[in-house]
Amino acid sequence: MKLTIREIVPEDIDFIVRYENEYFHNFTTKFKVEEELQNPLIHYYVLTDASRLGYINLWIDEDKAQVNSLVILSEFRNRGYGYFFMANILEKLHEIGIKEVTLEVRPSNKAALKLYEKLGFREVAIRKAYYNNGEDAFLMYRRLGSD
Ligand SMILES: CC(C)(COP(=O)(O)OP(=O)(O)OC[C@H]1O[C@@H](n2cnc3c(N)ncnc32)[C@H](O)[C@@H]1OP(=O)(O)O)[C@@H](O)C(=O)NCCC(=O)NCCS
Repeated sequence: MKLTIREIVPEDIDFIVRYENEYFHNFTTKFKVEEELQNPLIHYYVLTDASRLGYINLWIDEDKAQVNSLVILSEFRNRGYGYFFMANILEKLHEIGIKEVTLEVRPSNKAALKLYEKLGFREVAIRKAYYNNGEDAFLMYRRLGSD
């Protein structure tokens, strides 16, 4: 089946809520995601083939974007889907004039670190005790385009 990236539709909300809670312990709700979708700065995209494989949540503000969540469901990992998804999103962002992309990642999240480094992100700062369990975050940065 062909991999497709599409914007979130209302039928995706339960899927997003389930995995935000499962992978990030964000205690989000259907209501919160519905509210987020009213915010023009917040964007969700879903990666699918025959079924949903993962999603990404971004803030896009003028020429900057911040990746808030990226998930590939555990049964579909290590097949290059995360790379495909992010690389395509970075291309879309570049096309719409985004110049800088940032994200936070746990130093213990080796899979995500490897993926982001492969995509050209560099660690630019440490956010002390950023996560609920006291773990620091690496702030990662990627500039898009050459100007
Ligand atoms: C991080 C995540 C999105 C990666 O998705 P994925 O589809 O498995 O990634 P890919 O298959 O495209 O792999 C990309 C690179 O990362 C590496 N990688 C993937 N899983 C890895 C692991 N467990 N340990 C080390 N490297 C790993 C791959 O080896 C690959 O590099 P390579 O091609 O040079 O070998 C996925 O693991 C995930 O959803 N994790 C849970 C949520 C999460 O932590 N999101 C990120 C929050 S910032």
